[in-house]
Amino acid sequence: MLKILLTGAYGQLGQSLRDSIPNEIDLISFSKQDLDLSDIRACEHIVMKHKPDWVINTGAYTAVDLAEINRSKAFAINAKAPEMLSKSLKKIGGKLLQISTDFVFDGNQSIPYKPLNKLNPLNVYGASKAEGEFQALKNLNTKIIRTSWLYGVTGKNFCLTMINLHRSKSLLNEEINVVSDQIGSPTSTVSLAKACWKIIQLERASPSIMHWSDCGCSSWYDFAIAIGELSESIGLIKKAAKVNPIKSSEFIAKATRPSYSILDCTETWDILNYKPNHWHKELRNILQLIYKGKQSLD
Ligand SMILES: NC(=O)c1ccc[n+]([C@@H]2O[C@H](COP(=O)([O-])OP(=O)(O)OC[C@H]3O[C@@H](n4cnc5c(N)ncnc54)[C@H](OP(=O)(O)O)[C@@H]3O)[C@@H](O)[C@H]2O)c1
Repeated sequence: MLKILLTGAYGQLGQSLRDSIPNEIDLISFSKQDLDLSDIRACEHIVMKHKPDWVINTGAYTAVDLAEINRSKAFAINAKAPEMLSKSLKKIGGKLLQISTDFVFDGNQSIPYKPLNKLNPLNVYGASKAEGEFQALKNLNTKIIRTSWLYGVTGKNFCLTMINLHRSKSLLNEEINVVSDQIGSPTSTVSLAKACWKIIQLERASPSIMHWSDCGCSSWYDFAIAIGELSESIGLIKKAAKVNPIKSSEFIAKATRPSYSILDCTETWDILNYKPNHWHKELRNILQLIYKGKQSLD
């Protein structure tokens, strides 16, 4: 039986991990209230107390725009905490699975980013996550899994925001403006959770840094249209609103985002012997789960 400690257990990825616990795993879940990652002594204490085989650190400061004005908080949670978790785990022979982001790259490439490509984050959130990777990787017990454009059935994410916007705007005959010049790979928390469990259960060696996204790529604009069309087709919303493409320069946001952040995941897919669905197919799966959840509440 492997003992796993999960941080940020009530975030969207944490929720999917808790919904998919494999056999032979003893999962101990920590909410933000149970373990405040900005308290590094608490991070150390929790590892020494429970002596887990692994910590899956999904807890993070994920408010990308707010991080621009809360730099020290973002660094405390996204950089100092993984550093302390990996250091403490090293003392007890445990390992850290640290979730990281495509935002560690600057987006100037036009081919998918490989795990060892140079990092050059454009915003504070990306810089704090890059620093967390760097510090945690000083200890050889750390695995980094970078992912992109994460969305799931619960929590705060682009998909749920768009469903609500399609619903409310179509009623008023209004339109939605969405950025069309940022390209990435939408990734479901369900497929990422499965990848995380496979990394932990892997019997052979894996690289220190891995990339994980669902297959294919999209702009936010294309993603918003697909969310509307699929939601309408399965009856989650009555009618999709019209979506207009806009440039990043027309969208007011504090943080700059990479215009291209596709991750080359081929190595991870081979190592895990698991290739995810195309994002469009996975989106349909997630929307159906949301629909089922809504039906049971109605
Ligand atoms: N979302 C994306 O598009 C995306 C893309 C690439 C990588 N990632 C990475 O994937 C991982 C999971 O992200 P997610 O989308 O599941 O994020 P999420 O839904 O925002 O979950 C993060 C969780 O961490 C908690 N948290 C915040 N501050 C904390 C603190 N001081 N101590 C303990 N917990 C704290 C949050 O609680 P509250 O909600 O109560 O603050 C939340 O439950 C993160 O490492 C993130 O950086 C996310």
